[in-house]
Amino acid sequence: MIKKGIILAGGKGTRMSPITKAINKQLLPIFDKPLIFYPLSILMLAKIKDILIIVNKGELNQYKKILPDGKNLGIKIKYEEQSKPRGLPDAFILGEEFIGKDNVALILGDNFFYGQNLTNQLLNYKKLKKGAKIILHKVKKPDQYGVAKINKNSKVTMIKEKPKKFVSDLAITGLYFFDNLVCKYSKTLKPSKRGELEIVDLINKYKKKGSLKANLLGRGGAWLDTGSIDDFYKTSAFVSAIEKRQGFKIACIEEIALSNSWIKKKEINNQIKFYGKCEYSSYLRDLIK
Ligand code: G1P
Repeated sequence: MIKKGIILAGGKGTRMSPITKAINKQLLPIFDKPLIFYPLSILMLAKIKDILIIVNKGELNQYKKILPDGKNLGIKIKYEEQSKPRGLPDAFILGEEFIGKDNVALILGDNFFYGQNLTNQLLNYKKLKKGAKIILHKVKKPDQYGVAKINKNSKVTMIKEKPKKFVSDLAITGLYFFDNLVCKYSKTLKPSKRGELEIVDLINKYKKKGSLKANLLGRGGAWLDTGSIDDFYKTSAFVSAIEKRQGFKIACIEEIALSNSWIKKKEINNQIKFYGKCEYSSYLRDLIK
């Protein structure tokens, strides 16, 4: 069972400069809330209450303004600063103390997931006791991602980071589940040509041991990327269309905390006071009417 989760929210967001010069990408809006709410909501839907957020050095205070220590959500949020981006597996080196003896989920701070039955799938993924689990999603441009090839029995036969030549159109999404060996394995990785520790090298270690599992996020599920300005607007339009049509919010972290019975009316009222007079607060008010 996975009890802990890490959100990797560092990075310089260079592809989105100048917007990201003064504000970290994960604090920029996807429609009506900061991007970081979306990956946080995924961990909360998986009922993971112990969360570490890894941020760039010097940006901690920006994050703490909006997500202090988690008490307001009935969860525990800790922070770790990263002095420079060293690749995704660095999360397990920086997070070693936080992880302790537990298994851990990792979600990239800019990954957006949405879909029917997602909560049930997440609760299923987090049952992982041993090995690693990756979540795959079919994409049109696989060369932009880590990809996995699977055989008839859903066994992963090959994984590759951003392949120039076609290998598979199943992208490895930025949501991963690992057993406790992940800290040990991460420390043995060598930086790649681009000077970073690579998540595919880490996943390959599990593959070699025969302990890698893969699940498909079916075509009814959406996995959107928020790496470029264009992606930001497209994802915002997606959220806006669904929220306006159906009247509920995607990734309202207070709503998830309330439905998980982690908080009560009092905490929602505190959040309304904290956010002030805004549409998000009106939504929260309606939740406790
Ligand atoms: C990273 C990983 C890649 C994965 C992607 C998911 O790529 O290296 O394997 O498919 O996240 O978002 P990056 O976004 O850092 O280029």
